[in-house]
Amino acid sequence: MRVLVTGGAGFIGANFVQQTVVERPGAVVTVLDALTYAGDRSSLGPVADRVRFVQGSITDAELVDGLVADADVVVHFAAESHNDNSLVDPSPFVQTNVVGTFTVLEAVRRHGVRFHHVSTDEVYGDLPLEGEERFTPSTPYNPSSPYSSTKAGSDLLVRAWVRSFGVEATISNCSNNYGPYQHVEKFIPRQVTNLIDGVRPRLYGAGLNVRDWIHVHDHNAAVWAIIDRGRVGETYLIGADGEASNLDVVRALNELFGRDGDDFDHVADRPGHDLRYAIDASKLREELGWVPAFTDFRSGLAATVEWYRENEDWWRPAKAAVEAKYARTGQ
Ligand code: NAD
Ligand code: TYD
Repeated sequence: MRVLVTGGAGFIGANFVQQTVVERPGAVVTVLDALTYAGDRSSLGPVADRVRFVQGSITDAELVDGLVADADVVVHFAAESHNDNSLVDPSPFVQTNVVGTFTVLEAVRRHGVRFHHVSTDEVYGDLPLEGEERFTPSTPYNPSSPYSSTKAGSDLLVRAWVRSFGVEATISNCSNNYGPYQHVEKFIPRQVTNLIDGVRPRLYGAGLNVRDWIHVHDHNAAVWAIIDRGRVGETYLIGADGEASNLDVVRALNELFGRDGDDFDHVADRPGHDLRYAIDASKLREELGWVPAFTDFRSGLAATVEWYRENEDWWRPAKAAVEAKYARTGQ
């Protein structure tokens, strides 16, 4: 199977490529990635020389057309992915997430290639902090930020291309990922690398916001389950029942570093900050038989801390610029 992975030098895409090469010896993988600030070829790790790497943008219609023509399936991870950046400058979010997805969709339409669109639960907006309600595939779209609204726009394009043009596509909306190779701008790697540097963790606002954490390996296993066995035209929600408040996560990290759990700083809150995300993944579990392997968040977190300790060469070059960026917004 010839697999074209967009965004394969980013956090989830690179983990996907590594898993695919190791677990599926028959797969011939091509990565298309623009290598923005978020992309890093070294994230392909030990499989880097077993994949074809093309540097370029998903908005480049001619380049995309040629690569899609040679693929059996396109797995679309490429995106601008960070909410805080989208609040500072939404423009690349519209270009990559909306125009880029449109460009890839037009190519898969022309060549009749199977398409899987990787998206986020943030398209559904947020849930009240208190309560048991969770997102399901029928929850109405209600995105809050430029990031989530451009991902919502991309999902809707995929749905329309399925219905109007018969494109063979599936969509997944996953909750917050953690694991190796995540950019230090994101919540968990930022705190872990601060702690390695002896800097207190930084909580936005009161820290009561809840995220539903899933290990990146489980997300990617679910993506393959959907490509292998999912029904074309369907949306699958991916989540591993990993709800935790930001405060809980910071306490757990402090403890993993042998520190007082409550030794952290409160910093400026994010404008429009979504309160709570929670996923009902029963469709994925029941229809496709997917089950997560990482069911103990604390041990997944401990392994992730270990990875950042052992891979300082990978994250150190980005750290100072990220902290300078946060300093400008008081975070
Ligand atoms: P990331 O920011 O780590 O990686 C994005 C990758 O896309 C980078 O390698 C970047 O260079 C590349 N890219 C950006 N613009 C591009 C363009 N115009 N053309 C080609 N490549 C481009 O993001 P991530 O966390 O790995 O997220 C991957 C996908 O998963 C995104 O679509 C995101 O919306 C989705 N998602 C992420 C999470 C999460 O917790 N991180 C959760 C659910 C869904
Ligand atoms: P983030 O990793 O940016 O993911 P998302 O916005 O997609 O949920 O942030 C996760 C949560 O952590 C979110 O509620 C914002 C919060 N946060 C902090 O409290 N401190 C930080 O330094 C960062 C980066 C995020």
